[in-house]
Amino acid sequence: MWHIERVRHVPTPPLHLFVCANRRSPNDPLGPGCGDAGEAVYAAMKDEVARRGAYRTIWIAKTHCLGICPKRGCTVVRYPSGDVFAEVEVADAAMLLRMEKP
Ligand code: FES
Repeated sequence: MWHIERVRHVPTPPLHLFVCANRRSPNDPLGPGCGDAGEAVYAAMKDEVARRGAYRTIWIAKTHCLGICPKRGCTVVRYPSGDVFAEVEVADAAMLLRMEKP
């Protein structure tokens, strides 16, 4: 039995991307996290969505750890496909926003 109430139904967008911008201590055994790279990729994707005026069809969400923790760049997950991309850099942002599979 659920103890939460659905307020309204929101149709899922054709493309929804989750960008990790998680930060950890530089000495953390799991690494420092996607941090600055994730923030930069998130900003680049939001700028590209704005440039295209694609607010209704492409949603971008900033998240914490997605469980990949690359040594460089950041992790991005695309839905509805569920494809996971690691070591994503700003230069990859536009490609990941294409509606077809990269
Ligand atoms: S810190 Fe980004 S995927 Fe783990």
